[in-house]
Amino acid sequence: MKQLIIINGPNLNLLGKREPEIYGDQTFEDYLEKLTAKFPDVTLSYYQSNIEGELINKIQEVGFSFDGIILNAAAYTHTSIGIGDAVKAIETPVIEVHISNTFSREEFRHQSYISPNSEGVILGFGLQSYDLAIESFRNQNE
Ligand code: DQA
Repeated sequence: MKQLIIINGPNLNLLGKREPEIYGDQTFEDYLEKLTAKFPDVTLSYYQSNIEGELINKIQEVGFSFDGIILNAAAYTHTSIGIGDAVKAIETPVIEVHISNTFSREEFRHQSYISPNSEGVILGFGLQSYDLAIESFRNQNE
């Protein structure tokens, strides 16, 4: 079974409460339960942190053994050279995801330090962005 992990960055622990007009009204925990049931043929782990260094530690920890990382670095996407470097340093492929369409929002959200070293980017499909990333890893042959 493919071993995948979703890594979520700052403020994504507030999904359901945070700006529901942009991010929806579902908690990530509820959504994760549905995702896990939808993809019984992959092993799905989940990690969330509001702290940049902890996100880097997790990327390094899984980045040489897992089959795929689905990374929503949230606001750090637009600021963190350190997370960008971590994505570059590891062997596990990364798919960058965002719930909102960052290109239809403020200019500062148009820059990403993650994209240049990601396999691909999925954004703007709400929480479904994560489903699509998992499907992509699932459809890739060993
Ligand atoms: C986000 C978009 C980011 O610009 C923002 O800072 C977030 C969430 C998204 O999933 O749409 O926290 O990554």
